[in-house]
Amino acid sequence: MIETKNISITYQEFENFEELSGGDRELISAARLSAGNAYAPYSKFSVGAAIRLESGRIVCGSNIENAAFPSGICAERSALAHSITNYKNDKPVEIAIAAINGDGLTEEPVTPCGNCRQVIAEEEARTGKKIRIILSGKKKTVVMDNISCLLPFQFNNKNLKVNLP
Ligand code: THU
Repeated sequence: MIETKNISITYQEFENFEELSGGDRELISAARLSAGNAYAPYSKFSVGAAIRLESGRIVCGSNIENAAFPSGICAERSALAHSITNYKNDKPVEIAIAAINGDGLTEEPVTPCGNCRQVIAEEEARTGKKIRIILSGKKKTVVMDNISCLLPFQFNNKNLKVNLP
């Protein structure tokens, strides 16, 4: 028998920056600052990511491009590489992402690329903790509970029957 199934994604949308909590605004501000530190001479699209760890510490990353295009890294993975390397046992609880194009901060929120979604999913699997996702643009901010909203049907350690340390 063929069954048609349906999944739904729940997220919150904020039209005013002022409607966001102080913590969210703080994390978005850190992501915006990091976007300003990106090295993106090729795309001229600067992205910043700010991760809040369980301890409250904020760790940031930006996209770092390269003349050999695939050698570049996105802001989200750059931030996660930093947090895992330096604070491995301090689990990420949320990540904010913001981007700057030729006109300044993007009007619309930027969503992580497929590779970054996969890496955020791995971090949730490694720590056993959901990572709240805050995607911020000038016009609106979108908040999601965790990476399943952006990456349903994940391929992960369970498919490989591997228990994570
Ligand atoms: N980029 C990010 O850093 N994060 C995203 O979520 C989307 C894309 C970077 C990769 C590349 O340096 C530039 O933005 C244009 O794709």
